[in-house]
Amino acid sequence: MEASLLNSCREGDQIITVNGGAFGARWRTIGERLGLKVHEIVVEWGKPVTLEEIEAALALYPGARAVCMQHSETSTTALHPLSRILPRIKEISPETLTIVDGISSCLTTPMPGTPESCDIYIAGSQKAFMLPPGLAMMMLSKTAWRVVESTPRRTLYFDLLSERRSLANGETSWTPASTIILGLNAAIEIIKAEGLEAVYARHALMGRIARHGVTSLGCKLVAPDAPGDSVTGFYPPSGVEADTLRSQVRKRFGIRLAGGQGKLNGAVVRIGHMGDMDPFDVFNAVIAIGSTARALGGDVNVEAAAQSCMGLF
Ligand SMILES: Cc1ncc(COP(=O)(O)O)c(C=O)c1O
Repeated sequence: MEASLLNSCREGDQIITVNGGAFGARWRTIGERLGLKVHEIVVEWGKPVTLEEIEAALALYPGARAVCMQHSETSTTALHPLSRILPRIKEISPETLTIVDGISSCLTTPMPGTPESCDIYIAGSQKAFMLPPGLAMMMLSKTAWRVVESTPRRTLYFDLLSERRSLANGETSWTPASTIILGLNAAIEIIKAEGLEAVYARHALMGRIARHGVTSLGCKLVAPDAPGDSVTGFYPPSGVEADTLRSQVRKRFGIRLAGGQGKLNGAVVRIGHMGDMDPFDVFNAVIAIGSTARALGGDVNVEAAAQSCMGLF
């Protein structure tokens, strides 16, 4: 995220950022630290940004160098509708770069928009690429490269022009995380063997099972209007504490669930379902959550939830 702004913006440039959660909020922090004028669209947590909000911001700040947004806002589990938004940004303001954090959506949901409407797309090794953290990947459009080429260098380690020169020789500019790159080659073979469409379909099914499962247990989703297929956030059944539920599920079943981030800390539970997982893993997680919530005094019908989830396979 930082490299995308360092390479495409000059001090004093205006950027529009979408803040719909803990990761969206980071654009502002990064932008301000780099001396940019940040115009933030604040979206209610759990909601997706709307096309109208983006259009209004572009009308207010027509000279914006970039619009920065997440595809999947991992902290709230909402998916922003970028397939509609990216082409519209390019229609209104072709010179404004679209910068998309696809870290938790890459490989779970097709890349949003068209190759021409997504200028910078960012992915990370630690999510659906099934690898440890340590590698960030970026795709740049021709427009983005043009902007990068004309932007004064302000960084040594994040210099994309230097990396492009090195890549032409099959190298990186600095010491690479070589073990993760070797792992990435293996991960790509696994993904190719399954087939990208099948990978997307598996994630879509895992997302459906998670949402259907927790709502059948009587839990409310954190992002009911636009839930993503990478991670599902929900409020625990009444009378059950989110963090107690998580720790007990881990203790009883060995399943590790994520908690809330930022202002959702302690209030919600998130089931991550990306990468090396299958629909039965998610089904098992739903049963583990239901059974544990019941043991903690929650009024949940685990058997009914299990039966209704089975209808999705
Ligand atoms: C949407 C999103 N952006 C960025 C990041 C990277 O954040 P961090 O480096 O703090 O893990 C993550 C999590 O890994 C994420 O889910």
